This record gives sequence, structure tokens and C-alpha cells, in this order.
Amino acid sequence: MTQRLALVTGGEGGIGTEICRQLAAQGRRIVTTCLDPEQENIEQWAQNLRDEGIEADWVVCNVADYSACEAMAEDVRKRFGEVDILVNVAGITRDGFLHKMENEQWRSVIDINLSGAFNVTRQFVAGMRERGFGRVVNISSVNGQTGQFGQTNYSAAKAGLHGFTMALAKEGAPKGVTANTVSPGYVKTSMTAAMPDKVREAIVGQIPAGDMGEPADIARAVRFLCADEAGYINGANLPVNGALFCSF
Ligand code: CAA
Repeated sequence: MTQRLALVTGGEGGIGTEICRQLAAQGRRIVTTCLDPEQENIEQWAQNLRDEGIEADWVVCNVADYSACEAMAEDVRKRFGEVDILVNVAGITRDGFLHKMENEQWRSVIDINLSGAFNVTRQFVAGMRERGFGRVVNISSVNGQTGQFGQTNYSAAKAGLHGFTMALAKEGAPKGVTANTVSPGYVKTSMTAAMPDKVREAIVGQIPAGDMGEPADIARAVRFLCADEAGYINGANLPVNGALFCSF
């Protein structure tokens, strides 16, 4: 069987990099999107993975820009082939209480975290349907399930992302295309490192597992959902949060 191609948006981040590693271990060829190759030092990132024996490449794309996503998809097809597996990781926080939130804080989070998933997935899902195989995994958050102080923008985007997943799952199921959400809790990344220490420490104190998760905890869940054998798992929201939030 030919090697399946996995596109991971925001793959150079803490969680994204581990997802790339796990999907490579599953036998996938890896391509990530990056926004600013120099600032993200993306060639070094790719080289580090190649040094580990992982075939990883990158393309430039602002996921918030629909036309840029169209151009990126063409570039990916020309250089690497058809995308069978898509993991929407690219996301930002612009935390602030709603009564102090600027329009730009709201817009940028919705544009990247929610519309970004549409902009990218829209480019690849028709091909997945035609070929009768596809795996889409959207990285949401426990804060999309519970809401969080200072995150009306982020919580709305992340909750919306699972609505997107569920609708896409219904559309894709007859064609062999699955869409699932993984909802991480608090994970050791630059995003949680940027939180005020006092708030982070208080939240960690509430995690029954006793500590924040590792990026690999999230990546292993993504790998599970991307398996060829996972075709009947569709429209699910898999929490990986150390029991911080449990629901039916
Ligand atoms: N729980 C309880 N109280 C909280 C709180 C929380 N999570 N966050 C803020 N507060 C309280 C503060 O303790 C403070 O109370 P006091 O006035 O009694 O001291 C009050 O709200 C005001 O807080 P600040 O002084 O910090 O106000 P601010 O306007 O400067 O900042 C904030 C508010 C933006 C919410 C800031 O506190 C903050 O950044 N909090 C972290 C938000 C957060 O949890 N982000 C998650 C990032 S990680 C992530 O998003 C990844 C993921 O998917 C899980």
C-alpha cells in the first residue's frame, strides 16, 4: 500500500511536533504548515525530525486566509501528493475578560482556531471522499467543553470546532472519511507557560492526575484516531485531560 500523507497545521508547536512524531511512527509521510518560516525556524525543525529518521516537510500557510489555504493545497499536491490525514492543530490564545476584550482579540482567535479548520479542511475533504478514505482530527480543548475565565474567544472557537467535527463526521461517514475531536486539558507547552503563574498553579491543583499532560499524551490519542482501522470512530470528542473534566 502506498504511504499515506498527513498534513498537520501548526505542526512545529509543542503538541504539533509530537503529533508529527506519532503519525510518522504510524508510517505516515509528514507535512506541516507554518506561518513564518524564519521566525518559527522551520527548516531546523524539519531537520531535527529528519535526524530522527522522520520524513518531514513544510509549506507556508496562514490558515486564517482562505486564498492562502487554496494555494497551499495546490503546493502540497504538486510536491507531496494527496492528503489522506489532516490534523488541525494551529491555534492561538488572546486571553482577556470579555469586558476588556478588543475586537481584534476575538477575531484573531475565531479566524485561526475555528475558521482556520474550515479553510484547510475545505481544500482536502473532496479528495478524501473521492478516494474513499480520510481522517480529520481537530484539536479542541477542555476549555471548549467547560468555558474558562478570560477565554470567551478561545472557548467559543474550541466549542465550535467540535460542532464542525460532528457535522463533518455525518457527511464523511458514507465515504470512508472520519472526523474526530481531541480535547486536551492543560499540557506542558509554551501556551500554558504563558499563563500567569498563579492561575496555572491553581488549575494544576485541580487536576486529579496531579500534573499537566505531556504533548505525547495528546499525540497518542491523535494517532489512535488516524489509524486505518479506526474507520468506525466518527464524530467523537476524545478528552485527554487527566480527569480535569469528565462527562458522558
Ligand atoms: N479561576 C479563578 N479566578 C480567576 C481565574 C481562574 N481561572 N482567572 C482569573 N481569575 C481571577 C483572578 O484571580 C483575579 O482575582 P482577584 O481580583 O480576586 O485577584 C481576577 O480574576 C482578575 O484577574 P487578573 O488580575 O489576572 O485580571 P486580568 O484582566 O489582568 O487578566 C485573565 C485576566 C486574562 C483571565 C488572566 O488572569 C489570565 O490570563 N488567566 C488565564 C486564562 C487561562 O486559563 N488561559 C488558558 C491558557 S492555556 C490554554 O488555553 C490551553 C488549553 O486549551 C487548555
